[in-house]
Amino acid sequence: MINLNKISRKLLLLQRNELLSDTQKYFRKKFGRYIFTNFLIHYFQKKNLENLTENLFKNELNTFEKYLPANIENIVDIGCGLGILHIYINEMYQNKPSFFLLDKNTIDTKIKYGFSENYESYNVLNETKNILLNNGLLNEQIHLINVDKEIKIDNKIDLLISLKSMGYHYPIDNYIELLKTKCNNKTIFIFDVFADRYNVDLIKKNFKFVEVIYEESSLHSLKRLYCKGLL
Ligand SMILES: C[S@@+](CC[C@H](N)C(=O)[O-])C[C@H]1O[C@@H](n2cnc3c(N)ncnc32)[C@H](O)[C@@H]1O
Repeated sequence: MINLNKISRKLLLLQRNELLSDTQKYFRKKFGRYIFTNFLIHYFQKKNLENLTENLFKNELNTFEKYLPANIENIVDIGCGLGILHIYINEMYQNKPSFFLLDKNTIDTKIKYGFSENYESYNVLNETKNILLNNGLLNEQIHLINVDKEIKIDNKIDLLISLKSMGYHYPIDNYIELLKTKCNNKTIFIFDVFADRYNVDLIKKNFKFVEVIYEESSLHSLKRLYCKGLL
């Protein structure tokens, strides 16, 4: 079972607000985002957060597992957050792939959610590393990349993942030129888009093949895409 310390609990709840308790959601509404993000987030948490977290990310993997190739060497995740998904992807692949995990490395003081050109950040890359090292990944498999510094990926990307990040909170254009230099026709892309901002026809301008594989309809509605052939 994964073990979450105080800081990783806070990050997880900011990254995945479906894990907030009803009491936390109530206080967020009542006291506002600043007080919630900086103080109240530490209280009124669900008791079985670890179990719920495991189930959440195993379910996420279920939504796209059948689209993954049998063998894989290099995985890139844009906006990886704590990277818990990769514990389960790593268990699938016995050949021990390399994980290039991109995120910012700060926690903004007021997390608003939504879609914007320059979206808030809420991650601590060292926490991502600790969680992965404590759950089966080897040090040499993990390459953490702070996107506010130089983004250096030496290898060709076999699988690009971005759950609830690129395309969902900020434009895919922020990364598309970088991806063109690191991907080929075989690269598989799994990423979420904010449905109000991106329809499938818009995405088809960037990829030869696009399929919607999962949807969530809420205030910030989501389409999960499986794409190939970056143009
Ligand atoms: C909703 S969380 C999702 C985290 C993770 N992908 C998951 O499925 O739990 C969005 C993540 O995107 C990161 N982020 C925000 N702006 C970013 C940017 N320009 N580039 C990369 N990551 C960014 C945030 O710091 C945060 O970790």
